[in-house]
Amino acid sequence: MNSENILAPSILAADFGRLGEQVQTVAQAGAEYIHIDVMDGMFVPSISFGMPVIAGIRSFTDKVFDVHMMVEEPGRYAADMKEAGADLLCVHQEACRHLDRTIHQIRDLGMKAGVALNPATPLDTLEYILPEVDMVLLMSVNPGFGGQKFIPYTLEKIRRLRSMIQEKGLSADIEVDGGVGPGNIQEVLEAGANIVVAGSAVFKGDAAENVRRMLELLK
Ligand code: DX5
Ligand code: ZN
Repeated sequence: MNSENILAPSILAADFGRLGEQVQTVAQAGAEYIHIDVMDGMFVPSISFGMPVIAGIRSFTDKVFDVHMMVEEPGRYAADMKEAGADLLCVHQEACRHLDRTIHQIRDLGMKAGVALNPATPLDTLEYILPEVDMVLLMSVNPGFGGQKFIPYTLEKIRRLRSMIQEKGLSADIEVDGGVGPGNIQEVLEAGANIVVAGSAVFKGDAAENVRRMLELLK
């Protein structure tokens, strides 16, 4: 785990008409990760954007591009995502038939590898893969849309995952994604998360100011 907590603004809630500028704004305000939600219309109902958009915003910042693949069999796009500028590629356990292969494919390409779990997916599924990943993303809403309400039972899931990581002597990051904002960020951190995704809480209103306010709470 990093000693510093990290804010990962999700650009799904940004103004796509000026995406580069918005990425630059949150990066300059101090966000360390840019959370990029890729949706294929199959794993989740919506379609968001893919490689060309990611490549298009890459020149606006050097911050970590944290790409959340809500895509069936995401290994098919791992090399293209690296090429587009992804630093960390996170794939859903539920979307990978051969999760171990996909995780190693990502690492062999020189990216950090993350595994994401939907709210209802048990932590047991991580038993063997946990030592192989840099990050676990716990969804705190059902993936597919921004602006949803945080599911309260996921707090207990964060706590249990943090214990699991500690018991195994590992150092994986825990990223929490969905419905997080100034009102519940502290609870999420106390439960054991160290990377917090925020879409609407950052991009609704003054993004730079929202980032600064949330960074204060992350200290
Ligand atoms: C949901 C996405 C999230 C989403 C978060 O499928 O994975 O990253 O953009 O948005 P908020 O913070 O608005 O819940
Ligand atoms: Zn996400």
